[in-house]
Amino acid sequence: MRVLGIETSCDETAVAVVEAAADARPVGRILANVVYSQLAEHRRFGGVVPEIAARAHLERLDGLVGAALADAGIGLGDLDGIAATGGPGLIGGVMVGVMTGKALAFAHDKPFLAINHLEGHALSVRLTEEVAFPYLLLLVSGGHCQLLTVRGPGDFTRLGTTIDDAVGECFDKTAKLLGLGFPGGPAVERAAVGGDPQRFALPRPMWRKPGCDFSFSGLKTAVRQAIEKLPAGDSRAVADLCASFQRTVGDVLVDRCGNALAASPSSTLVVAGGVAANVYLRSRLEALPARLVAPPIKLCTDNGAMIAWAGVERLRLGQVDALDFRPRPRWPLDPAAANRL
Ligand code: KG4
Ligand code: ZN
Repeated sequence: MRVLGIETSCDETAVAVVEAAADARPVGRILANVVYSQLAEHRRFGGVVPEIAARAHLERLDGLVGAALADAGIGLGDLDGIAATGGPGLIGGVMVGVMTGKALAFAHDKPFLAINHLEGHALSVRLTEEVAFPYLLLLVSGGHCQLLTVRGPGDFTRLGTTIDDAVGECFDKTAKLLGLGFPGGPAVERAAVGGDPQRFALPRPMWRKPGCDFSFSGLKTAVRQAIEKLPAGDSRAVADLCASFQRTVGDVLVDRCGNALAASPSSTLVVAGGVAANVYLRSRLEALPARLVAPPIKLCTDNGAMIAWAGVERLRLGQVDALDFRPRPRWPLDPAAANRL
């Protein structure tokens, strides 16, 4: 089966076509994967401006659907389903993607699949790797930091979440304070190369506490205070601070995942979401007593292929959506846990 995937929940306008067997096996084939990053439009504001994002999605999306189909060498009639991110995210952008997906599905009489963006990240590893359900998932992105047991599409149990900020947000803030640019994650990772990870002692909230929850606001504040006190003329200071910050985040992620593995029905740990693109953090997680699997770096940050793949997984189970689906600004993977925090 072939599914078109549309992603518009933040600042990437992305469309992909994925092909897979109709049975329940993991691993599909990406026939097309085009991403238009709106970075240039948002950079001067130092963050994503929702209204600008929605308009940019609207301007680009039709052209990107055409480009993806051309790359795949197929027409809309050759598709078995149309998947679009239905939330959570910036609602103007989500509406653009959902309306486009619905219109294409209606006009060509194809099933429509409204995909939870977080489920896109959560299942993306199975697009490229043989990973069976259930598995433990560390989902680390700009808006989320969660540990979940993934039993299948739509079947998640949350073991822990951040009680304040997401880890990607912490990277972005650190980069902004240091003037390294936006988005912050890749900039901090680059700046940390060759830095001394032991130079700055930063707080590790939740470290060695029971449970699987996270907290990053104290670390964010400590980084700000350290930046205010950076000695002038110390050419190594930025590299050392970035390396120390990454080491601290690594310590916390390893500690929290260790607790989650002890409570997990599986010894496979999957890391996904934008922060999973960080090579240093991946190497830290490799030290855990688990089989660590991560999507290729390119599929960690937002893309259409993960939405198309989640569409494949849902279509196989007959979990299609009606055309009156309403875009959702909030959409927890484990609704029972969402009431707790
Ligand atoms: O999954 P994603 O593309 O969008 C959301 O759903 O949030 O994640 C974006 C986040 C941003 O905070 C970005 O700074 C972070 O992922 N990120 C990274 C890296 N690449 C992206 N963080 C650390 N290291 C990276 N290499
Ligand atoms: Zn994302």
